[in-house]
Amino acid sequence: MAEIIIGTGAAVPAYVLDNDGVAELVETDDAWIRERTGIRQRHIAKEETTASLAEEAACRAVVDAGIAPNRIDLIVVATATANQRMPCVACEVQEKIGAQQAACFDLNAACTGFVLAYQTAAAYLKAGIYRTALVIGSDCMSQVIDWQDRSTCILFGDGAGAAVLQRQPGLSYLPVAGADGRKGEVLSCQALYEEQPFYKKSGDSGFLRMDGQAVFKFAVRKVPEAILEVLESNGLSTGDIDWFVIHQANRRIIESVARHLGISMERFLVNLQEYGNTSSASIPILLDEGKHSGRLKKGQRLVIAGFGAGLTWGASIVQIA
Ligand code: COA
Repeated sequence: MAEIIIGTGAAVPAYVLDNDGVAELVETDDAWIRERTGIRQRHIAKEETTASLAEEAACRAVVDAGIAPNRIDLIVVATATANQRMPCVACEVQEKIGAQQAACFDLNAACTGFVLAYQTAAAYLKAGIYRTALVIGSDCMSQVIDWQDRSTCILFGDGAGAAVLQRQPGLSYLPVAGADGRKGEVLSCQALYEEQPFYKKSGDSGFLRMDGQAVFKFAVRKVPEAILEVLESNGLSTGDIDWFVIHQANRRIIESVARHLGISMERFLVNLQEYGNTSSASIPILLDEGKHSGRLKKGQRLVIAGFGAGLTWGASIVQIA
């Protein structure tokens, strides 16, 4: 048994903050941000929330898949920025789209979240437990950004993306995933427990903190490794892959991955110039744009690969119907 993506959807907030707008908040400039990251602008949630963006992306993916919502057996939402601790975002999506038969849960693996949510849903389908799953990545990173910290606030944006997966007979691909919990402090964000001061430690801020160079070095080493491992474990080589869809954090990271793999940047989907790093949403937004722009075609074989806080990473081979 294998799984195939039969529908995609995406949603981003209406408000656009370009690099000049960021330069009004911290000492930076458009040229520096473009050169060091490739980012031109990002969407920031003013009215929207992690749940509302997830719902919008989910609705579009279900319409795109052409299935009735009550045929969805499972909803998994990858997020690190849910507005509430419970109920989970997946339950809010279920209620909104009328997928009453679906089991629901959220999963947090930061920017690797969508890849791990995809792998989790695919495992249920391959095991024959469920037939149809809705996998969503939704994050409002703007909520946890310190808008006075120029080393992080230039990078992130808000958004959501969704994919409907369906079980089908055929060859199933093995996934790759890993983590190094010893490197947690390299990219972290404390939860705020304002209502319970007992838990609050000095130094807690609720803001994302990051050693940018350490994350950069980790990504340019680990992502090519994970991609080569997933290819090798499935008896494939880079030549067997039509598109590489990797987490959108920094254009220089993607260029380095392409160099390591010895393949052209033209085989990578890139949209971070428009959205910045949307964490768990970046890969499904790319899939949706790729599908609707006609670049991703039926039957093509893709590699999706993510990396992020934890530190975590993952790669899978996916197919579009
Ligand atoms: N605008 C202008 N100058 C800036 C700046 C900004 N926003 N941020 C840093 N600088 C300055 C620094 O102060 C430093 O100045 P100095 O040389 O006078 O000390 C100089 O630019 C270089 O800083 P550095 O931190 O070495 O830049 P960098 O090339 O490593 O780029 C990042 C910084 C954050 C863009 C880069 O490290 C990165 O993208 N890392 C990965 C982060 C990531 O992807 N995280 C999410 C993973 S899921």
